[in-house]
Parts: sequence; structure tokens; C-alpha cells
Amino acid sequence: MNLPKNIQITEVCPRDGFQNHKTWIETELKKEIIDDLCALGFKKMEISSFVSPKVIPQMRDAGEIIGYFNKKWGDRVEGISLIPNLKGAELALQAGAESLIMVISASNDHNLANTGRTVENSLKELAEICKIKGGAKLSLGVGTAFMCPFAGEIDAKKVVEIIDASLALDVSHITIADTTGTGSPLKVHNTLSEVRKIFPYTSFALHFHDTYGFGLANVLTSMRLGFNSFESSVASMGGCPFAPGATGNLATEDLVNMAEGMGIETGIDLLNLLKVTRRISKKLQLQSNSHIAATQLGL
Ligand code: COA
Ligand code: ZN
Repeated sequence: MNLPKNIQITEVCPRDGFQNHKTWIETELKKEIIDDLCALGFKKMEISSFVSPKVIPQMRDAGEIIGYFNKKWGDRVEGISLIPNLKGAELALQAGAESLIMVISASNDHNLANTGRTVENSLKELAEICKIKGGAKLSLGVGTAFMCPFAGEIDAKKVVEIIDASLALDVSHITIADTTGTGSPLKVHNTLSEVRKIFPYTSFALHFHDTYGFGLANVLTSMRLGFNSFESSVASMGGCPFAPGATGNLATEDLVNMAEGMGIETGIDLLNLLKVTRRISKKLQLQSNSHIAATQLGL
């Protein structure tokens, strides 16, 4: 089987995980969790999002979190801030963010539900963000890239169009996201084959949710097409509040465990990761939904 020798994992718990947590997580506790995760050796991590505090109150301390992160981990870990619009970019840059990811859904319906904008208007705003971003890295996150809870199956052409439009701007990396975890491995194969054919040299990451247990199958499908960068969240935390049915991300510990089982390096020690996951779950009083948590190893 054609598989990569190593994969890169972007931990997204502090953004995707926290945003879907029902109760307020104290800023100090967020910092502790970020420290624990950074110490595991992740090279990239989604730290927070600069979104409307009315819409996602959990992220209202994004500025303080970025300041703390930059001072403590900025030289070792790429800390990524999610933004939904120009205002988010302005606030993130003011707070000292050095890496931004703008989210635009492939589905116009989901983009409207998530950001109140059409895809066309989000792309116009992306162009504006390029003008103000200075030296900051800018990535694009394509949401609902395979399936949409409102519009159903997404044509690969839509994904290709958005990627194409963003690459004409100053965007240097693309994350393709299965926001609701409803993309089957066959759908993922078909869309990613098309994307790889058209953009053979672009830097991509895949972001899967495990809602229906497709997460690892979709990772394997992507790996076989040459993709080697994935986003995941410890304890399978996370989910988009504006996508009905969206639940947890693919768990980082499941991803690391599967990679290890196939001799693929991740740079993350599984045992340490499980200890940290257990600690985070305890602090947040949540039960890990990872597959590994259901075994002796995960306890
Ligand atoms: N961060 C903080 N505040 C913001 C903001 C941002 N990125 N964008 C707009 N605002 C503020 C405006 O200043 C305005 O404030 P005011 O009421 O005090 O004047 C208010 O929010 C409304 O502005 P408007 O442009 O009408 O925004 P909106 O209410 O239509 O919301 C978004 C649009 C994009 C800000 C909102 O839908 C959002 O935050 N979406 C993100 C959803 C998300 O995080 N999903 C999960 C990750 S994919
Ligand atoms: Zn997610």
C-alpha cells in the first residue's frame, strides 16, 4: 500500500474543541490545556478564533490567549487563529496573530448559516484580508467540502473553484474540512483525487469529524492519495455549532494510534498523549469519545 513515512498533525482542541464546549472554560484553564498540548510536540495548533462573541462566547478571550501563546510557545509552535471575516482578521492581527485561517464553506447555504455571508462575499473579504495581513501567514479552510447539512452532496467543482480563487490571492495553505463527518471514504476519494490532479503542488491538510465513524477511513483514503497532513482534536472534542448534527473531530489519539500501528511517524508519543487527554478530560469534566478511550489503553 502506498503510504507516507510520516504525517503532520495540527491539534485543533483549543479552537474547534473549545468552541463546542457548553460551559465557559476559564482563560487560565485554557492556557493550562494549551501548555499541556504544546508540550507534546505538535508543530501546529489552532489556538483560538476571532469571531463574534455574541455567536461564540467561548472565544471572547482570543486576544489574551494569543498574547500568552506567542510569548510562551510562539517560537516552537505555529499558533493558528481562525477568522470568519475582515473584522476577525483585524482583531487577530492587533492581538499579534502570525497565522490566520479564513473559513469559507464550499456550500453557500452553510457559509450563510456560519458567517452570514455568501461564498462570493467571503472571497471578496479574503482579498481584503490579503491587503492588510502584512507578513502573517494566511490559510483557507474550506468547510462542508464533501457534504452539507443543508445542501446535501457537494460537487468537487465547488471545492476546486474556491481553492483556485484563494490561490490567486496570497493564500499559502488549504485545509479541506468535512464539517459534519458525513463524507464517505468514496466521496472523499473522488473529491480529493480531483483536487490533487488540479493542484499537485499546493500544501493541503484534511480535517475530518468522526460523527459516523468515517474519520480514520477518510484519513487512510487521503494518505493513499498522497496527503500527509491532518487536523484532529484530543478526546474527539469539537464540532460546528452552525451545522446541525455536527459532533466531535477525529480524535488525535485515534489518529496517532492508527499511524503508529502502520509504522507512520507523527512526532507525538502515544502514551504521553493519552495521559494529557485524560488530564484534559478530567479538567473539563468530559468523557473522551475516542475509540481508544473505550479500550484498556485509553483508560
Ligand atoms: N469578531 C468579533 N466581533 C465581530 C466580528 C469578529 N470577527 N465580526 C463582526 N463583529 C461584530 C461587529 O463589530 C458588530 O458589533 P456591534 O454589534 O457591537 O456593532 C457585530 O459583531 C455584528 O456585526 P456583523 O458584521 O453584522 O456580523 P454578524 O452578526 O452578521 O456576524 C460573523 C458575522 C461572521 C461575525 C459571525 O457570524 C461569526 O462570528 N461567525 C463565526 C462562526 C464560527 O466561529 N463557526 C465555527 C467555526 S467554522
Ligand atoms: Zn472541526
